[in-house]
Amino acid sequence: MNNRYAIVLAAGQGTRMKSKLYKVLHPILGRPMIRYILKALHPSSIEKLVTVVGHGAEDVMKQIGTESEFVVQEEQLGTAHAVLQAKELLEDKQGTTIVVCGDTPLITSDTYEKLFEYHETSQSKATILSTKVADPTGYGRVLRSQDKDVEKIVEHKDATDEEKLVNEINTGTYCFDNEALFAALQKVDNNNAQQEYYLPDVIEILKAEGEKVVAYTTDNEDETMGINDRVALANAEKVMKKRLNEQHLRNGVSIIDPDATYIGPDVIIEQDAVIQPGTMITGETTIGSGAFIGAHSEIENCTVGKDSVIRQSVVKDSKIGDKANVGPFAHIRPETSVGNHARIGNFVETKKSCIGVDTKVSHLSYIGDAELGENVNIGCGTITVNYDGKEKHQTKIDDNAFVGCNSNLIAPVSIGEGALIAAGSTVHKDVPKDALAIARTKQSNKEGYAKKLLDTK
Ligand code: UD1
Ligand code: MG
Repeated sequence: MNNRYAIVLAAGQGTRMKSKLYKVLHPILGRPMIRYILKALHPSSIEKLVTVVGHGAEDVMKQIGTESEFVVQEEQLGTAHAVLQAKELLEDKQGTTIVVCGDTPLITSDTYEKLFEYHETSQSKATILSTKVADPTGYGRVLRSQDKDVEKIVEHKDATDEEKLVNEINTGTYCFDNEALFAALQKVDNNNAQQEYYLPDVIEILKAEGEKVVAYTTDNEDETMGINDRVALANAEKVMKKRLNEQHLRNGVSIIDPDATYIGPDVIIEQDAVIQPGTMITGETTIGSGAFIGAHSEIENCTVGKDSVIRQSVVKDSKIGDKANVGPFAHIRPETSVGNHARIGNFVETKKSCIGVDTKVSHLSYIGDAELGENVNIGCGTITVNYDGKEKHQTKIDDNAFVGCNSNLIAPVSIGEGALIAAGSTVHKDVPKDALAIARTKQSNKEGYAKKLLDTK
C-alpha cells in the first residue's frame, strides 16, 4: 500500500443552494455533509488529510475540529486552484492523494477503499471515480477513445451536444500520484465557459504527457450524487435515510414506516426497540432495547433506557432511565434526567432537573432547576417557580413527598421527605420532613348567598 493523503474541497460558495448557510455545512439527518466525507475516509488510513476552506471558513473548521488540517482558498477560482492551496503541505510527498469534493457526502468507505486499491494496482497517475447515470445533466463527462481508454473530462457547460450524450460522469473524486498531481496543476488554465481552473483538466494534461490515466467505474449511482442545490440535498437525505434505516432493521429494530422515519448517523438503537412513523432521532442518541418511540417524537442527543415508552414528545440533551414513561406531548428540555420507572405525563415541561426513580409528574406541570427524589408524586398543574426575573433558583423535593395539584413552589425551596403539600398551595418556605404544608387562603361559605345573588338577576 502506498502512503495515502487526502484533499477535501470545501471552499466553494454553494451559490445554487441559495442559502446563508455554507454549502458543506447543510445537514443530512442532522450531520453536516462535510462530516460524512471525513468519517467515510477515516478507515482508509490516510496519513495527512487537508480540507480546503474559503467561504465560512471559521464555521467549517469548527465543525471538523481536529479531524483535518486546513488551508484557506481566499478566492474561489476553481477546483484545480483549490487543490493547489494544499501544495505547501503535500507537494513533496510520495504516494497516493485522493481528492474529494465536499458536496458528495454519500460515498462510502468501501467505495473509497476500492478506488484506492484500483489506483494502486493499476499503477496509473490518475484514477477517476466515475459512474453511469440516467441523467448526467450538470456533471463532467468522462470521454473515452474508441478503444475505451480515458481521454479527458469535459464539464457540462463546455460539452458539445454529442459529448452531452455521454452518461459516464465524473463523481468529483479521484486518486492521483501525488507528485504528478502537483506538477500537472501548474499547467491548468481557465480557458473555459466558467473561466475557472478545473481540476478535471489534470486528466487531459497527464494523458498528453503519455501518462496512464484510468477510471474506476462504480455502479452505486446513489453514492455519487453531488449536492449542488436543495433538490439534490432532499434526494441525498432520502438515500441516507434508507441506508441507515435498513441497517437498523437488519439489526433487529422495528421501524414501522422507514420512509417516514428519520434516524441520524450517530444514533444507536438496540434490539427490539420499536420506532413509529414521523419520528426524528438525531445527534448522539442511544435507544435501549425494547423501547417504544411513538409517532411524531423528536429525540436529539439523548439516552433512552430499556423498555421505556416515549409518545409524541420532544426530548433533547437528556437521559431517560429504564421502563420510564414520557408523554404524550411532553417537552423534556436539556439536562433532564428521568429515573427508572418514572412517569412524565402529558403537557409536562422539564428543564435542568433530576426526576427520581418511580417519581410521577403526570399532568400539566413545569419542573425546572429541580431535584426530585424517589417515589415523589407531583400533582397536576404544579409549577416550580424557578425564575425571579433575574436569577434561576433550585427546588428540592425529597423521597416520598406528595405535592397536591395546582401548587406553586417558589424557589429556592426544599420539601422534606414524606411531606405533603395541600392542593392549591403557594409554598415559599421550606417544608420539614413528614409535615403537611397548607398555603392558600381560607375558604369561607356565606350560607344562602348564591341563591340570593342569582334570584335578583
Ligand atoms: C464538479 C466537477 C464535475 C463533477 C462534479 C461532481 C469541476 C470543475 N467539476 O462540478 O466534473 O462531475 O463536481 O459532483 O471540478 N470548490 C472549492 N473551490 C473552488 C471551487 C469549488 O473548494 O474554487 C469546492 C466546492 O466547495 C465543492 C467542490 O469543490 O465542494 C466541487 O465544486 P462544485 O462547484 O460543486 O463543482 P460541480 O459543478 O459540482
Ligand atoms: Mg458540486
